[in-house]
Amino acid sequence: MRGKALAAAAIAAALSLVGCSTAAPSASQPATTAASSAPAGGAGGEVGVFTWWADGSEKLGLEALQKLFKEQYPNDTFVNLAVAGGAGTNAKAKLSADLQNGNPPDSFQGHAGAELQDYIRADQIEPVNDVIDALGGSQVFPQTLLDLLTVQGNIYSVPSNIHRANVVWANPAVLKKAGVTAEPADIDAWIADMDKVKASGVSTPLSIGGTWTQVQLFETVLISDLGVDEYNKLFAAGANWESDGVKKAVAHYTKLLSYANTASDGDDWPGATDMVIEGKAAYNVMGDWAVAEFASKNKKDTTDYIYFPVPGNKGVFDFLADSFTLPKGAKNAAGAKDWLALIGSAEGQQAFNLAKGSIPARTDVAPTEFPPYQQSAMAAFKSDKIAASIAHGAAVSLSWNSDISSAISKFYGSKDQATLIADLVAAAKKHAV
Ligand code: GAL
Repeated sequence: MRGKALAAAAIAAALSLVGCSTAAPSASQPATTAASSAPAGGAGGEVGVFTWWADGSEKLGLEALQKLFKEQYPNDTFVNLAVAGGAGTNAKAKLSADLQNGNPPDSFQGHAGAELQDYIRADQIEPVNDVIDALGGSQVFPQTLLDLLTVQGNIYSVPSNIHRANVVWANPAVLKKAGVTAEPADIDAWIADMDKVKASGVSTPLSIGGTWTQVQLFETVLISDLGVDEYNKLFAAGANWESDGVKKAVAHYTKLLSYANTASDGDDWPGATDMVIEGKAAYNVMGDWAVAEFASKNKKDTTDYIYFPVPGNKGVFDFLADSFTLPKGAKNAAGAKDWLALIGSAEGQQAFNLAKGSIPARTDVAPTEFPPYQQSAMAAFKSDKIAASIAHGAAVSLSWNSDISSAISKFYGSKDQATLIADLVAAAKKHAV
């Protein structure tokens, strides 16, 4: 009963974010420095931080934070507990085992929204209101985002960033050669463009990776075919997962897969994004961590890559936020709070998000400090309607995500649309509260 009430609160909170498209306070508010109660230089001791930012461009963001942490908290020793695998595919299983075995890290990465509620419900994380308050609370974080981290007045993590999941990354040279000159307005127009790309000699116009990248692609097609309001309603109890809109999205998704490369379950995202860089694909639907991949390969915005919302997603920001926790039983809770204070500070958010491709969760970091992509994402986050990501824990719990992922993985082999819909219906029945 208690679990149900919490999950319902989470969904209500998620929907309040969705309903509040202009909720971000103005960027002109003054920066607030976290007033940590810890001694100058930090509490001391090892601080074990668990993420899945272990490789390539993902690692660069974490390294930016690590560097600042060392400068600002010289008494503390950062211990990198990262486990590789995009979207936490491998990390989440290890984390779950560690938490269950009473061997938590000092802080771990979770997703604002339904996924975080899982850890709260399982009584695995502590409130960090003191850290959030010292950072400036709702003066510097959007209240709607704080609501996704809060249960009964307790705030359970410190958000480091906001990512956008519904972005198409494209190779302009490949499109030019194919005679594609305009951004497609909807999925059908996009499919027509893919035919042109194919005719120009690129056999896989759309690149995909393993299962979670397919879930992410599917969620964006759901947004296109349902519209953002109906999409966001999918996560409430009793929602209709077999409507004409869902059926249309499944049919579109099936067609889109026919333009994609062959992928195995565990294929990670950089390979798919790199296919665009190499001209082996024209398009990749990827979260904006892809910007860091382009940058790490010295690729230039506009010349080497272009980006636009998934066709039919214009005016919709498919949202997720990484947020760092204080686990119950953390060996160095005071050191963990130093880490949380750094992540939540304006300086930490600027350093991290510049390297990660995301935008600051804080509203007082100036857009002018960021390259064009992030500037456009910051503007879109303020003006667009917000959708909650399925693949990245904003809309659904870990277990619901896992059932959707199994259904999408099975579908990749079978292409059986009726079974996919039946599996999605069953998952919603099992998990929606
Ligand atoms: C998401 C995470 C992002 C990024 C992405 C790819 O779940 O929130 O920060 O790491 O996975 O690994």
